[in-house]
Amino acid sequence: MDDFRHLFPEFTLGTYLDYAATAPVFLSVLDAMREYEMGGRGNPRRGLHAYAARASDELERSRATVAGFVCADPSNLIFTKSATEGLNLAIESFTKDLGPGDEVVHTIYDHNSAYLPLKRAADARGFALVELGLHNFTTLQLSPRTKLVVLPHVSNVTGEVFPVAEIVKMAHAVGAKVIVDGAQAVAHMPVNVADLGADAYAFSAHKMYGPMGIGAVAFSKAGFDAATPFVVGGGMVEPGIAMFEAGTPNVTGAVGFAKACEELLKIGFSKIQEHECEIMARIVSTLSESEESASHSGEGRILRMAQDGSIFSFVVPGVHPHDVAQVLADHGVAIRAGHHCAPHISRTLDPAGVVRVSIGLPTTTEDIDQFFATLKYVESLR
Ligand code: ALA
Repeated sequence: MDDFRHLFPEFTLGTYLDYAATAPVFLSVLDAMREYEMGGRGNPRRGLHAYAARASDELERSRATVAGFVCADPSNLIFTKSATEGLNLAIESFTKDLGPGDEVVHTIYDHNSAYLPLKRAADARGFALVELGLHNFTTLQLSPRTKLVVLPHVSNVTGEVFPVAEIVKMAHAVGAKVIVDGAQAVAHMPVNVADLGADAYAFSAHKMYGPMGIGAVAFSKAGFDAATPFVVGGGMVEPGIAMFEAGTPNVTGAVGFAKACEELLKIGFSKIQEHECEIMARIVSTLSESEESASHSGEGRILRMAQDGSIFSFVVPGVHPHDVAQVLADHGVAIRAGHHCAPHISRTLDPAGVVRVSIGLPTTTEDIDQFFATLKYVESLR
């Protein structure tokens, strides 16, 4: 099995299995950001001096790299501070002219970063929100009243990958736009927004081993033409990208974001997926052994709620997910528990939410063994 740990800072706080919340940064990303800063900082798109020109060049070079990473057109890719900001921008843009009689379809899997801006827009403008339940994407019925479909590419609770391209085709057939939350996809699978056809695809750098505080939304041409600036301020007088990036852009973040894209492409998604499959196989085999011994002994053990891609969610019957997380944290194992900012799906799985293990490039089978050994202790506390 490939070991990718040398590409990251050495972890000293214990076993980290919370990659869906955030991932560690590549060392090369830190180097690239330092190199940019050491060369002299300027404010891009403002000023005629060499520092401003260098900042502008680095910002646009980074944009081209990030856009290339998801096969988007750089002239339609806007840097944001997060996937959340990208989703807010796209949702506000595509719902601004909607009103009573219109419908927006969204899903039970939505993160609050998509659901809450949608709910706010629906409350203000009077359009209806239609929530898709579990497993009914294939029977999706859209009507001419449907103006927008919003969905995640990958669920942050179950790890499921949704058929975005098929849904985009159905939506476009009735004239609806599609916004995709790609936050949980970009570090784990190749994404081609041109093939997916979505009108807006939002993602963030920190979940793909880049810096915190920067994300992007890649619009289609039609999506970009329909978008309106969400934040107004200095530097937005020029038409195009600059209109959407008012204020001083995060150039250092953009440089780091681009470096993370380059590193992921250098490793290659086939290797990344091979590694994550091997780690998930360890989870599945340990779970199967534990389930088998539980059925022989008649004892209830953990209940697997979902497991797909890089995510495994479960409950320990009789123990609140937060208590499981606390005991694991006390023993140096970092996971996330509760509703994961996606309460509609997590409550469907269990009213108290679920415990989530999420893996990434630096994860080793030893991390998984450490997690299960500590979980045994949690189970023994019941
Ligand atoms: N959306 C992130 C998660 O799932 C923060 O943990």
